[in-house]
Amino acid sequence: MADHATVKKAVIPAAGLGTRFLPATKATPKEMLPVVDKPAIQYVVEEAVSAGLDDVLLITGRSKRSIEDHFDRAYELEEALAAKDETERLAQVRESSELAHVEYVRQGDPKGLGHAVSCAEYHVGNEPFAVLLGDDLIDPRDPLLTRMIEVRNARGGSVVALMEVDPEQVSQYGCAAITPTGEDDVVTVTDLVEKPVPGSAPSRWIIIGRYVCDPAVFEVLRNTPPGRGGEIQLTDALKTLAKTSPADGGGVYGILFRGRRYDTGNKLDYLRTLVQFACERSDLAQEIVPWLRKYLDTLP
Ligand code: G1P
Repeated sequence: MADHATVKKAVIPAAGLGTRFLPATKATPKEMLPVVDKPAIQYVVEEAVSAGLDDVLLITGRSKRSIEDHFDRAYELEEALAAKDETERLAQVRESSELAHVEYVRQGDPKGLGHAVSCAEYHVGNEPFAVLLGDDLIDPRDPLLTRMIEVRNARGGSVVALMEVDPEQVSQYGCAAITPTGEDDVVTVTDLVEKPVPGSAPSRWIIIGRYVCDPAVFEVLRNTPPGRGGEIQLTDALKTLAKTSPADGGGVYGILFRGRRYDTGNKLDYLRTLVQFACERSDLAQEIVPWLRKYLDTLP
């Protein structure tokens, strides 16, 4: 097996304006919207930690203070719960502050995902790192990130997570041209297009929000001009790396993910995710599932 530096750090961009959820996101970051009883971003930090990455950098912006508060201690609340012997709730409150070593950097100008990732350079240095986008939640029973890190360790370069979608959905995502490697779930990415215009996509395999990047991406991002939507796109930087030699940090691989992914990036998908999570929770399923069945019967 090749000897490549392993991944220890996770970068989670969380500086978006959340305009698709207004007015809920006027004063609350969209990353703090609850999925049942945990803010969406906590699931993402938990996923990084389960893949062995407990050094987490959150890229935030203005009005994101509640995210920092969430991963910090809450003394008054903890004391109040301890005084009332509410041990289970106390454990839940402490959990998010003990989960990982979380640091923050502000993006300043919202110039796109590529720009957000470039803000991590000082913290990450010359090491490979993972990027997790908060709009996508991956089921803990399908350890995608662990597999991506394994592939990075074996092959070097960068790794993206790919999922096959219906042709009409492709233009909402970054899309990959791929060739087989001989390993069932691993492909070589030969080209990438950010949000291709309908009819021009190279495949139906789209990037879901999980990446393992070689640190060479920072230099490439510096030289990547604004792309789709006038923003600096991570997809465009990875496209350059897909065409760069492995000796210079290039090479991009894709993991063909066939597991469970939940989208929280828009209202409808967020609602679907809430219902699915609630119906699968052992403490809620017994009540919510029969209620939901009955409720559906009352609909015209
Ligand atoms: C971003 C990426 C896109 C990727 C998507 C996954 O787009 O730019 O390549 O497919 O995340 O969720 P966004 O959803 O931020 O527009």
